[in-house]
Amino acid sequence: MKAITRRDFVRTSVAASALAATDFHAASAETTASDQFRIVAISCSPRPGKTTATSLQICLAAAQKVSERIEAELIELAGLKINGNVAAGIPLDPGEKDDFPSLVPKLTDPRVRGIIIGTPVYFSNMSSLCKAFLDRCIAFYRDDLALSNKVAGVLAVGGTRNGGQEVTVQSVCASLSCQEMIVVGNGRPGARFGATVWSGAEGGVTKDEIGLGTVRNLGRRVAETILRMA
Ligand SMILES: Cc1cc2nc3c(=O)[nH]c(=O)nc-3n(C[C@H](O)[C@H](O)[C@H](O)COP(=O)(O)O)c2cc1C
Repeated sequence: MKAITRRDFVRTSVAASALAATDFHAASAETTASDQFRIVAISCSPRPGKTTATSLQICLAAAQKVSERIEAELIELAGLKINGNVAAGIPLDPGEKDDFPSLVPKLTDPRVRGIIIGTPVYFSNMSSLCKAFLDRCIAFYRDDLALSNKVAGVLAVGGTRNGGQEVTVQSVCASLSCQEMIVVGNGRPGARFGATVWSGAEGGVTKDEIGLGTVRNLGRRVAETILRMA
């Protein structure tokens, strides 16, 4: 048997790392439909189809660009009834509608490997709808940690450029970390805690090129992390 010299070892290791760094499109060419991974984005704005939803759609498109193996779905919480008090054991009023249970199968589906939470900034924090949703996720925390090891990313949209997007992102990240999720920030260049968008740009979020850069980087980072973990 040929002894492996240090030079051989270094050469092999470099080749292996180069292979690992191969772009994910190439890797996807050898995959089948059963290798699909889903990312679910949750828009926590009470206003359907507005700036948070638009930003998440752009984020998901960037994630899907990483590989054909990535599927994406946007879920809007707008119009859904999610009572956060239930998390604290307070029962629903008689006849009160509760939409949270209908979200559970979508979140816990094993094909779902990534979850991206998008929230508008409300007084430098997440929307009450976002908080109610995250608090209701205590069901997973208490039970089987069904969200454990899913990749998570966070996006915040504010009406002003520096309106508290970063602290909002961090606040959501804290909750997701409690679920044992693998929380990632927006990737390079300019890697930070997550995506930060300004809806007050002239022309709306789609004109906030700086913010959209963070949005696309977040989508890419979530997708790449999912593929690396697979
Ligand atoms: C109650 C409330 C509080 C807000 N507080 C902030 C804030 O602290 N910082 C900020 O940049 N924008 C703030 N905004 C503006 C929203 O974050 C902004 O309009 C956002 O784009 C709304 O998202 P949507 O279009 O998806 O509903 C606030 C809006 C509301 C209704």
